[in-house]
Amino acid sequence: MEKPVQILLVFLAFHLLGAASNEGELDDRLVEYRLRRQQFSRCRRLNFMGNRHQLHQSRLQHAGYNYIVRAGFYYGNYDGLSKPPTFDLKLDRENWTTVNTSSSVDGGLPIYHEAIYLTRSGNLTVCLVQTRDGEVPFISSLEGVPITNLYEEVLDTTTATLHLVARTNFGGSEVIKFPDDSYNRVWTRGAIPPNCHANVSIPIGYSIDIENAPPISMLLNYIESVNVSYPITLDVNLPLQYSTPLPAYFVFYFADLASTRVQGWWSIDCGSSSSHVVDGSISWEIDTNYTKADSNRRVPQNQAVEEMNTLRFFPNQTDNNCYVIPLKFPGFNHIVRAGFYYGNYDGLSKPPTFDLKLDRENWTTVNTSSSVDGGLPIYHEAIYLTRSGNLTVCLVQTMDREVPFISSLEGVPIRNIYEEVLDTTTATLHLVASTNFGGSEVR
Ligand SMILES: *[C@@H]1O[C@H](CO)[C@@H](O)[C@H](O)[C@H]1NC(C)=O
Ligand SMILES: *[C@@H]1O[C@H](CO)[C@@H](O)[C@H](O)[C@H]1NC(C)=O
Ligand SMILES: *[C@@H]1O[C@H](CO)[C@@H](O)[C@H](O)[C@H]1NC(C)=O
Ligand SMILES: *[C@@H]1O[C@H](CO)[C@@H](O)[C@H](O)[C@H]1NC(C)=O
Ligand SMILES: *[C@@H]1O[C@H](CO)[C@@H](O)[C@H](O)[C@H]1NC(C)=O
Ligand SMILES: *[C@@H]1O[C@H](CO)[C@@H](O)[C@H](O)[C@H]1NC(C)=O
Ligand SMILES: *[C@@H]1O[C@H](CO)[C@@H](O)[C@H](O)[C@H]1NC(C)=O
Ligand SMILES: *[C@@H]1O[C@H](CO)[C@@H](O)[C@H](O)[C@H]1NC(C)=O
Ligand SMILES: *[C@@H]1O[C@H](CO)[C@@H](O)[C@H](O)[C@H]1NC(C)=O
Ligand SMILES: *[C@@H]1O[C@H](CO)[C@@H](O)[C@H](O)[C@H]1NC(C)=O
Repeated sequence: MEKPVQILLVFLAFHLLGAASNEGELDDRLVEYRLRRQQFSRCRRLNFMGNRHQLHQSRLQHAGYNYIVRAGFYYGNYDGLSKPPTFDLKLDRENWTTVNTSSSVDGGLPIYHEAIYLTRSGNLTVCLVQTRDGEVPFISSLEGVPITNLYEEVLDTTTATLHLVARTNFGGSEVIKFPDDSYNRVWTRGAIPPNCHANVSIPIGYSIDIENAPPISMLLNYIESVNVSYPITLDVNLPLQYSTPLPAYFVFYFADLASTRVQGWWSIDCGSSSSHVVDGSISWEIDTNYTKADSNRRVPQNQAVEEMNTLRFFPNQTDNNCYVIPLKFPGFNHIVRAGFYYGNYDGLSKPPTFDLKLDRENWTTVNTSSSVDGGLPIYHEAIYLTRSGNLTVCLVQTMDREVPFISSLEGVPIRNIYEEVLDTTTATLHLVASTNFGGSEVR
């Protein structure tokens, strides 16, 4: 699990800069990202020395290098005054934003401001400006990552700095950031708009051409209108601080879920005795060709997701606790998703916890406790680097009398995703997301 992270860091020259105490001090190695409070009365200047080479290159091309810059603030009543300040930020002497730290008190969360910034020189200057009497500016963290091929169309045509208003993972219950997002952009959970519900799917027809390289795990979750005749209305809280109209840049990601699925997609309904087709397109196969285990059940109470109503369980810790799936596209990497719905199938009211392995390497621990009656299925997803023509998923009992089971197993070949990472590493898999559909965001 560690390896892909390091490779990404090398490729993207990712920087995490802790706010240092002395002006001019910086660390272009990876430093642990932690909150530290720091008062500033003067400008703080950062020199992206680690990228001198890139800056030099970009000068030769007569173009600046773009950075995502993020400043973090956590007041936490560090001064004992219980008076979180409001102050201004400047980026290279131009107004960036106003920071209101009132929600970052004890028990609150850090506040982040992010800009996409076109470097004009080898230095980036962030200043904190006191604007209110007795309210002392402070900063807790400062991060930057150089970007290429992102936001190009808008950055090419403007000299302006982009100031992030929102970056939302609609339909997702998790906050997504690095390593899912190679640039450590933070995708927050979004409120589900009226007449919509959250859903999840393995996206269709991935290609590298998706604008601004969004993380796959963000695309897995989505919202859809409950009825095609209802519109989706999204609220955007634009900052009120600007008195003059400003241009804004919106990026939306849509998928046509009705189009036919990609070739090579497989969907296995574990424990089922008959194959079936859902929505005229998803063809669920039975699993007997893929496993030697022979204990299957139906859950006593049918629930909405048909493939969750049957399961295969593994009472004996033997070699048969595996699924071996011959891949139709062995050269491709795959997204693999396993689904679990306990539904008290064994009448013991004891949802088990157990481990999953992918090609004999640890994948994840599955805790099925929320998938009881009235609960929702649990899914685990991974990106799988193919090594041979077969993909092997094994279930491993790790607790006494807690018998592993599985309800569904799906996969889709992908290409051009994380290629630079996957090409240079022997790591078997890269965990994308483990989504608990019982999360509060999902209705
Ligand atoms: C920048 O911010 C300061 C203080 O908030 C304000 O007085 C000034 O008018 C702003 N300048 C521009 C160019 O918007
Ligand atoms: C900061 O935010 C809080 C809560 O939204 C608000 O009550 C307060 O007026 C804001 N402070 C300033 C100076 O805008
Ligand atoms: C960047 O800042 C350093 C230190 O303040 C200064 O010596 C250098 O000339 C600056 N470089 C540019 C390109 O402005
Ligand atoms: C999620 O999407 C699938 C496929 O489009 C659909 O069949 C299913 O009904 C959706 N689930 C919910 C809860 O709307
Ligand atoms: C969708 O909305 C239309 C128009 O309001 C209505 O006629 C139709 O019955 C609705 N369909 C569903 C599935 O609710
Ligand atoms: C299992 O595999 C055999 C040989 O490939 C095939 O003929 C058969 O249809 C498969 N059975 C199922 C249920 O898919
Ligand atoms: C486990 O395997 C043993 C020996 O094959 C068998 O006797 C026993 O019934 C199995 N246990 C279950 C729960 O199937
Ligand atoms: C894999 O998981 C097992 C059981 O959870 C654990 O004992 C083992 O140390 C793990 N192996 C690795 C390489 O992490
Ligand atoms: C499974 O999750 C539940 C609820 O979060 C928790 O109470 C329980 O301790 C977990 N079980 C294990 C073995 O981690
Ligand atoms: C895949 O698995 C099948 C059945 O277990 C086996 O016959 C075949 O040799 C395996 N192929 C590879 C490339 O490992």
